[in-house]
Amino acid sequence: MRAFYGRALTDPVIGFLFTDVAHLDLEAHVPAVTSFWETILLGARSYTGGAFHPHAGLHAKAPLRAGHFQRWLLLWHASVDELFAGPRAEQAKAHADRVAFAFHGRLQTTTSAPEAPLPGLVVSRHGRPGGGGG
Ligand code: HEM
Ligand code: HEM
Repeated sequence: MRAFYGRALTDPVIGFLFTDVAHLDLEAHVPAVTSFWETILLGARSYTGGAFHPHAGLHAKAPLRAGHFQRWLLLWHASVDELFAGPRAEQAKAHADRVAFAFHGRLQTTTSAPEAPLPGLVVSRHGRPGGGGG
């Protein structure tokens, strides 16, 4: 968790969402996300659910785009791979992918200006010069 938040809070793409928009109190946040992940990965039942709700609140202040979720996942995958290997590490990455996809989809129903669906982990590219800017 701390390896991930060390990356996330200083990240040029999503760091501002934690620091400037949410004004995240990391010491209060780490126990919540730790119980979330120990419930998913280690059979604990310490997390009581409702992870989506704070993201809806965040989205109302600063729209969470597909690119933000892709960046979140990139940092998560990097943090997991740096410290762990094996089936639970794979599960940690796979479940994060699913939750990110689900959160992003749910947020689209709460905004008046839907954007393109989250294209998995594909890195999007800008149009080629002269390609019409598509
Ligand atoms: C060991 C098995 C699993 C456990 C213990 C587990 C646990 C959890 C927990 C605790 C949450 C957060 C719920 C909340 O905050 O309200 C969650 C969310 C989610 N899980 Fe799992 N999960 C498991 C397997 C799976 C599998 C196999 C899938 C799909 C194939 C899946 C898809 C999802 C999705 C899409 C969400 C986000 C739902 C949303 O808020 O929109 N999970 N899971
Ligand atoms: C753009 C991507 C994301 C951003 C910017 C983001 C940011 C945040 C912030 C600022 C909070 C704290 C909100 C508060 O306490 O007021 C939070 C809570 C949380 N986030 Fe995320 N998040 C993102 C994606 C995800 C994903 C993909 C997952 C799961 C795989 C996740 C799991 C959680 C959990 C479990 C909490 C704690 C909820 C609780 O207090 O019960 N987040 N997130």
